[in-house]
Amino acid sequence: MSAPRAKPKYYLTTPLYYTNGLPHIGHTYSTIVADVIRRFKRMRGYDVTMTTGADEHGVNVERSAKKAGMSPQEFSTAIAVQWKQIWDDFGIAGEEFIRTTEERHHRTVQWLFKRCRNNGYIEKGSYTGQYCIYDNAYVVEAGPGDACPDCGRPTETVTEENYFFKLSEFQQKLLDFYAANPDFIKPESRRNEVLSFVQGGLRNLSITRTTIKWGIPVPGEAPHVFYVWFDALIGYLSAVGGPDFDKRGLWPADLHIVGKEIIRFHAVYWPAFLMAADLPLPRQIWAHGWLLFDSEKMSKSRGNVVRPRPIVSVLGIDPLRYYLLREIVFGQDGGFSYDALVSRYNADLANGLGNLASRTLTMIDRYFGGEIPQPLAASGEQKYSASPADFACEALTKITQLYERLSFSLALESIWELVASLDKYLTVEKPWTLADKPEDRARLGNVLYTAAEGLRIIAALAHPVLPQSTQKIWGQLGQAGQLNDVQLDLLSWGQLKPGTKIGKPEGIFPRVEKSEAIERIEAMEQEQNKPVPSPAASPAPSAAPAAAAAAPAPAAGTPKIGIEDFAKVEMKVGLVKSAERVAGADKLLQLQVDIGEEVRQIVAGLALAYKPEDLVGRKVVVVTNLQPRKLRGVESNGMIVAASAGPDGSPVLAGFLEDVPVGARLK
Ligand code: MSP
Repeated sequence: MSAPRAKPKYYLTTPLYYTNGLPHIGHTYSTIVADVIRRFKRMRGYDVTMTTGADEHGVNVERSAKKAGMSPQEFSTAIAVQWKQIWDDFGIAGEEFIRTTEERHHRTVQWLFKRCRNNGYIEKGSYTGQYCIYDNAYVVEAGPGDACPDCGRPTETVTEENYFFKLSEFQQKLLDFYAANPDFIKPESRRNEVLSFVQGGLRNLSITRTTIKWGIPVPGEAPHVFYVWFDALIGYLSAVGGPDFDKRGLWPADLHIVGKEIIRFHAVYWPAFLMAADLPLPRQIWAHGWLLFDSEKMSKSRGNVVRPRPIVSVLGIDPLRYYLLREIVFGQDGGFSYDALVSRYNADLANGLGNLASRTLTMIDRYFGGEIPQPLAASGEQKYSASPADFACEALTKITQLYERLSFSLALESIWELVASLDKYLTVEKPWTLADKPEDRARLGNVLYTAAEGLRIIAALAHPVLPQSTQKIWGQLGQAGQLNDVQLDLLSWGQLKPGTKIGKPEGIFPRVEKSEAIERIEAMEQEQNKPVPSPAASPAPSAAPAAAAAAPAPAAGTPKIGIEDFAKVEMKVGLVKSAERVAGADKLLQLQVDIGEEVRQIVAGLALAYKPEDLVGRKVVVVTNLQPRKLRGVESNGMIVAASAGPDGSPVLAGFLEDVPVGARLK
């Protein structure tokens, strides 16, 4: 017997994200997309490796660390660990997580530099220019005193001795390479952008810095450290063997997924570095667009940063994956809104796929004792099974091709046409009336077989996007093993075996009440979007909406603040006038609190620790200048201060030993 043929390898990457903050929904989008491709390729028979990771060096991280009162290494480690944890929790971590502070990476960067130098592509020079420390880049067009055109911050005049990479020597080589590899840069718009940039001429690139300490040392050239881009890009190679890349057989990478703003680094600098080092070039760079929030790019300064955990806690990871891939045309910018997210959830997942699955499985349970019934023989009454079967067979090829082209929204649209066609089929065939007549038993069996087989095919096709929920459907259909291992190319209509015992039908996507779901997500977002990303504060995905009074205890490493920061918080003595429970919320109390000049309504997470009647007449400490927010639909206009000091961290109210006047300010 011959040994089974080894699977072909496929290697893809996400960007390596900066560790000056925690992931937002934009970073999550890139990582989810890469994970969808990873799962799809696996189902096409590849042995897939996906790398994501952390880009830890550079001024930005150094600055954030300083603000937090930590060393860059400590700070960056705390953040990198959380990135990894978040991707793990979401099931999108891939196979490799590379940190640019790892020894395997340092070794690879230094090795690549030496190869470039030995091949004559590195020279020493001195450079004076306007430098934007925020963007880690010289602003070529700026003069002294000018602001950076990208971020608007003032540039600084910097002169330093640098090592330069002779990028100018690669203009023609790159143009020839793009011409010979028309699919190297995707989509077309980005390819055109890169072509005209390169055609416009390339300047040599300064790749070391002496003005920065937090970086990889240039071997034997202290105090030079490598510039962040002659560091981070190389992480794709360090992750799969670095100098020994041949051993794992994963280089060159098949695909780099990036956001459009970093296409130039990936499609110009990176191939030039590799050409200079005589190393193989990646096969494709795909630049996706931006998620826009109210038509604006998400950014901390605009205060519109959306974090992924609250969404995942309220709706689950699969609905977020589905929404992002269905709603945004891959390669283009797309609007992000909670409204559209929850609408899609209810329409396509709860009422669409979820409903089809529960209808089908419940009827098989009820009419056939939970066993997949027999389809009609092809020769007999074929008209009853022909249409969905034909539709599904066509869809299989078409949808596979759409995934292959990374046309995710079209692939999902086609899968949901299949869902709609099966729904319609059930509505037309009315199995519930067939069930009333014994003479229609065979036909009833055929209808339900068709629905179940359609569902099985849909589960497999939707698996790359909805890995957890389709696996549940797969199990409920009585299918053994992991959908991950199913080969799409071997999937065909009729493989479902009559007589298979199905699992207990269970709801996959419970319908949610839109405004309530959005309120819950928003309340959690507010908690997470505190101005300074504290390396210690990232609640687990299952965390309930943060209750007003039960903030997590400050952990070791909480950043120091100045007195001016403390002065921003207004705290006053308040007197509780009334207290009642909030309907449907175990932990919440709705209080009316007199704070001197007014009576405030405050919702606080005190209900498990205090009876409402025990609070009336009690003096409490109130943070009075917080933005109002809604909890379970009830506006809360302030926060009651408590220590998480009771059993299981339950709140214990702050109070005074002496009598204090209502409205007195705490300083
Ligand atoms: N560290 C560099 C990348 C080095 S790769 C060798 C970097 N890091 S980053 O943390 O700023 O992440 C940028 C990436 O995050 C983008 O390329 C994109 O993949 C993703 N996004 C950041 N904001 C985004 C949106 N608003 N929308 C979609 N993706 C976005 O750049």
